[in-house]
Amino acid sequence: MHKKTIRDIDVRGKRVLVRAPLNVPIENGKVMDSFRLESLLPTLRYLLIHKAKPILISHHSDETNSLSPVAPVLAKLLDISVEFIPDCIGEAVNQTAKNLQSDHILLLENLRFHAEEKANDLAFAKQLASLAEVYVDDDFTTMHREHASIVGIPKFLPAVAGLQVEKEIKSLRAAIDNPKRPLVVIIGGAKLETKIEFLQAFLQTAQTIAIGGIMANTFLADRHFGAHTMGNSVYEKNVADKIVAIVDEAKARNVKLIVPDQDVAVGEGPEAKVRREIMLNEIQANDMILDLGPKSIDQIKTALIGAGTIIWNGPLGLTENEHFRAGSLSLAHAIADSEATSLVGGGDTAAFIHQAGMDHAFDLASTGGGATLEFLSGHNLPGIDALQDK
Ligand code: 3PG
Repeated sequence: MHKKTIRDIDVRGKRVLVRAPLNVPIENGKVMDSFRLESLLPTLRYLLIHKAKPILISHHSDETNSLSPVAPVLAKLLDISVEFIPDCIGEAVNQTAKNLQSDHILLLENLRFHAEEKANDLAFAKQLASLAEVYVDDDFTTMHREHASIVGIPKFLPAVAGLQVEKEIKSLRAAIDNPKRPLVVIIGGAKLETKIEFLQAFLQTAQTIAIGGIMANTFLADRHFGAHTMGNSVYEKNVADKIVAIVDEAKARNVKLIVPDQDVAVGEGPEAKVRREIMLNEIQANDMILDLGPKSIDQIKTALIGAGTIIWNGPLGLTENEHFRAGSLSLAHAIADSEATSLVGGGDTAAFIHQAGMDHAFDLASTGGGATLEFLSGHNLPGIDALQDK
């Protein structure tokens, strides 16, 4: 890890601006999933033990959504008072930050209430920076964004990584540069387009790549994988060129490409209450593939035997619907039970394993969605670049 972390600077007694992963699902004023909040706890505990005064800043993707519901959840997780202010700049914020006591946390409002955040406005970044003496970025989920709170503030304050960010960088870096082999990568999710760079990156380094989710439908509908009838299933058309390129690259690199083609779980639509498991060649016009069947799951699980490293990104089925989680759950257990170094990531996958109570079963449950994909695809992330080198 070539970037400084909170362990490398003196935070004792200081006001510390913490870029936090508070972009969490909020419905009717209630936090629906606390996985990202829990990832922040080691950094907050470290700061509190060192009598630092954390001031939390974050965005919410819904630019009208208040972060106020996060305060009571964090307060409960840490058993400490968390004060929320309904803005992130201005006189009230300045005064409260100035008077902040140790053993208290201050939480500021959704940064995206101000257009200057996404515009990476330096005056806005400077105002935020003036609240504290040190900046800690513990939000891996936004490392791919060039926004004021991520790349602007480090121009005005000593900027270091938090403990979750450190863990993510170290684990993901090792999986890219020096994975224990064989390296098995399982890619699920919806769109080939959003995963293509990731796939291409691992076609260079993995020994096996397995495809699941809607992406598997896209492959199975292609002539290289049997031109199967898909019924009413969702899949991408006009991607034959991309699939040929992937197949050719896999052959050239001797990468085993697995597209499970045994049984599937179908329903009448995304809201289906009934799961039917049938063979791929039994699909009828009204059937929608919403998960893999047990024989298809076994095709992926077999590939995990003897793996040195397993990377899983993207659910295998429609995990939002309880009837179509079995494939992803079975895979999660198989990965957790294996001896391999295991990295599980992507917004939906992380939320799913958290809900299944399994995030501690893996070496890394990455908090990031797009950031994790970009990092694993080989991109430099501006948020990481902005931090101080060791
Ligand atoms: C995420 O959830 O992937 C990050 O928090 C980034 O959110 P954004 O896509 O709204 O920038």
